[in-house]
Amino acid sequence: MINIALPKGRLGEKAYGIFEEAGFECPSIREESRKLIFENAEVGVRYFWVKPSDVVVYVERGAADIGIAGKDIILEYKPDIYELLDLGMGKCRMAVAAKKDFCDRRDRTLRVATKFPNIARDYYNKQSREIDIIKLNGSIELAPILELSDVIVDIVETGKTLYENDLEPKQDIVDISARLVANKVSHKFKNAEINDICKKLEKVLAQKNK
Ligand code: PRP
Repeated sequence: MINIALPKGRLGEKAYGIFEEAGFECPSIREESRKLIFENAEVGVRYFWVKPSDVVVYVERGAADIGIAGKDIILEYKPDIYELLDLGMGKCRMAVAAKKDFCDRRDRTLRVATKFPNIARDYYNKQSREIDIIKLNGSIELAPILELSDVIVDIVETGKTLYENDLEPKQDIVDISARLVANKVSHKFKNAEINDICKKLEKVLAQKNK
């Protein structure tokens, strides 16, 4: 049995669709319910819905053999796991954004509001820039508007949230998409099964991108 952690939400449902097409279906998962675990013993898969940022925790500790995690979460938490495949979905980017009229003064400490303190720190460290991280858990766009921060480091997908709050992207940090990740021990001991899943997913994705 391969245990698969899927991120709860739209991305997870889309990712499950790829598993389904690859032959790892589990019809009960599509039924309306509050259940979190779904199993299809015939094809040897057990899925569970977890909070997107928790997928890497389940996979790193081996509660899940594989999972679908955003590259943002992987970069932020640096879990000790394998990244096997880029699913090419959930595409967005990590960017620095600020008020349109924001003028950076390099002689001042930059106040950075973000849900991703490690990504922000890594980015500004490379520029030897002194920053003050303000860790928030959501609605990051509010921070520069209320003068809580100078800039934000956040996910930009369509850019609509920034635009509607009179902010604009200033620098791109990294491209983000969903990745198939694996627990290191599972990858060794369930290698054939995990490789089989990986290859079949790759095939479905290749067909879609044709
Ligand atoms: C993310 C991100 C932005 C928004 C970007 O928020 O933090 O707020 O999506 O998308 P857009 O460029 O298409 O407008 P999310 O929905 O994850 O909510 P939260 O960060 O406020 O929790």
